[in-house]
Amino acid sequence: MQPTMRWYQTLAWTLFLRQATAVLGLLAIILWVAYAEAERGARATASASLSAGGYVLERAFEQQGHSLDAGLDVFTQYSGNVALVEQALEGGASSSLADTLLDNLPRLNAEIALVVRPDGSLLACSARGARPTFPDVGILQMALAPEEAQAAGHPGPSYRGFLRVDWGDRPGVYHAVARSLRSPGGRPLGAMLVGARVDDRVAGDLRRLAIAGPQRGDPPPHLALLSHFQTLGTTLPEAQTLDRLLARDPALLAVRYRVLDGERSAVLPFRLDGRTYLGRISPLRGVNALDLEMAEVLLMPVDPLLAPFRNLQRAILAVGAAGLFVALGLSLWSARKVTAPLKTLAGAAEALAGGQWPETVTLVPSPDEVGVLTRTFKAMLAELRAKDDLLTLLETARKGPAPDPAPRPPAPAPWSQDEATRRLEPAAVRRTEEPLPTALREGGVFAARYRVDGLLGRGGMGVVLKVRDLQLDEEVALKVIRSGLASNPAFLALLKQEIRLARKITHRYVLRTHDFGEFEGIPYVTMEYLKGITLRSLLDARGRLPLPLVLRVARQVAEGLEAAHAVGVVHRDIKPANVLFDVRGDAKIMDFGLAAPVAAATEGEAGTLIGSPRYMSPEQIRGERADARTDLYALGVLLFELCSGFPPFDSPRIDDLLALHLDAKPPFLPDLVPDLPPDLGALVARLLEKRPEHRPQSAAEVTEILKILAAGDGGSSRV
Ligand SMILES: Nc1ncnc2c1ncn2[C@@H]1O[C@H](COP(=O)(O)OP(=O)(O)OP(=O)(O)O)[C@@H](O)[C@H]1O
Ligand SMILES: [Mg+2]
Repeated sequence: MQPTMRWYQTLAWTLFLRQATAVLGLLAIILWVAYAEAERGARATASASLSAGGYVLERAFEQQGHSLDAGLDVFTQYSGNVALVEQALEGGASSSLADTLLDNLPRLNAEIALVVRPDGSLLACSARGARPTFPDVGILQMALAPEEAQAAGHPGPSYRGFLRVDWGDRPGVYHAVARSLRSPGGRPLGAMLVGARVDDRVAGDLRRLAIAGPQRGDPPPHLALLSHFQTLGTTLPEAQTLDRLLARDPALLAVRYRVLDGERSAVLPFRLDGRTYLGRISPLRGVNALDLEMAEVLLMPVDPLLAPFRNLQRAILAVGAAGLFVALGLSLWSARKVTAPLKTLAGAAEALAGGQWPETVTLVPSPDEVGVLTRTFKAMLAELRAKDDLLTLLETARKGPAPDPAPRPPAPAPWSQDEATRRLEPAAVRRTEEPLPTALREGGVFAARYRVDGLLGRGGMGVVLKVRDLQLDEEVALKVIRSGLASNPAFLALLKQEIRLARKITHRYVLRTHDFGEFEGIPYVTMEYLKGITLRSLLDARGRLPLPLVLRVARQVAEGLEAAHAVGVVHRDIKPANVLFDVRGDAKIMDFGLAAPVAAATEGEAGTLIGSPRYMSPEQIRGERADARTDLYALGVLLFELCSGFPPFDSPRIDDLLALHLDAKPPFLPDLVPDLPPDLGALVARLLEKRPEHRPQSAAEVTEILKILAAGDGGSSRV
């Protein structure tokens, strides 16, 4: 049983789905490539921008240090200030020093200022509540002991670094510069430190200073200043998220140690509150920067960078989607259109397989493979129909005359009885039926090999018997040459030669000739036995044939002739009596190789003409050389008779009949049979041309025309 086909399993949908998948896949690849390319571009831009920004930032940070130092330098040079420090050291008014420090903060560009004694303890601070000592503040320690600092590679006279302030109103980490304090006489008076708080404002200033953007149009990066990987100041709106990320993200934690070692990180992705940044963490340098793990992060927002690419992507997606929509629509339409004939053909084939004749296939064949399939299918259908019809006809013909007289010729056909199976001989010589020798009677064994099973028929050359070849245990037909001919040595020699040639023809539409032999002076020919009837009998029983059958039988005879002509054998006696049908309804031409020896044997015998006058070509009547085209003339007569039910020329007097073949124009078939295809009428007219050179020149040409006619007809119209 055929499995039921679901809609998506149809050829149209399969084609469509495959195309759709391909188109979608292609679109996905384009989008992916565009996306990857955009990401790569953004990363490259960000990376370049961050490198340049990082460098400038470092310089700007140093610059802040220089500006603090410049104020500090001026302050420490001023003798009034030094005197104030000396006074305080001597136990005087440290509060007035603290006030002076506070007053000078704006001039110092600083937010904190403090002075320590030479022993490191606090003398005065601009902010209240300062710690008493600063042993952990490297820059102060260096300013107190410049020689040691110099030895450690910090030449001074000022030292830049960081100070953690955990007192006063504004605790935090301060970017600071420290210097030694000396009296005009050179006595150490301790050290002074000024600092600016590392906070959002500084971050903002630094950002403005540092980042002009390496390329115009690039978005400005954000800056975060870190201590212990915690934000001190930033221009980022998402500072808290950044802190959380810095504290938790394993990738960033790994980076922390590298930064502590003084290395810059690679460009890393940062996802902050739904925004994506590419950032790079760099250590911040200063004498004691490491204590406080000072670092800065420059973060480049990716979204604005990707925006142009995103727009491009969106455009591709939009155009792609629109294109996809149109392409898919078109592809479904074209798949349906292309497969529509296949669907029709599949339906027809299914009907055929189910034992039903499909509706007439009305497809117009296209010039492609589907067209070839359509044409072939139509031809196959026509052939099957014709075969089916023929088998039915053969069956009824075998049973007797048809009950429906419609397709029969108008009058009884006298020619069919007296036809051409008879050789033309002077009336006087016409034989009465010779009795068969005993060995040839039913039950006898002939030539010690063939057991006679019955008489198949009698012809001009002799009798045909159905025999069993006892050697091969096979049924064959055995044609016994009548005694008149058998005694002619020239005839026998030629017959042998012709049979040798005829044996070479192997074709499904040619009856196989097996052997030639002679037994007790009786020459015989054995051939394939067919349990079937001749075309003559079919015509007698049914009259003219329907067009598809005409085309089929004629095409098979033409193909058989083509095979014979290819090995150089001309039949010379093509006629309905020499076409036999096998059980499958295929036509087979018989009696190849017999006509020529008979003609040669009787040549010159007065009043004798050998052949079947109804099918005889003008050149045969004139005694000229017969060739392939002679068989085509006879095929023309046969075709005429198949179409109309009667031969083109007829007369009770043989001389008249021959004269008609020689000179008369044959009737134009379409005039007699109105619904005959004009091309078939034209073909018959050409085959019946008097001069061989005016006929089709080969059986192959005729075969082709008949095939085209059969396919074009589609088996639908009937004559
Ligand atoms: N190979 C065969 N198998 C079955 N039947 C055959 C075979 N050959 C001939 N016959 C039968 O024998 C009959 C006589 O054949 P035969 O060829 O002798 O007669 P013909 O064709 O009328 O005359 P001829 O061929 O001599 O002009 C045929 O009509 C056919 O019915
Ligand atoms: Mg015959």
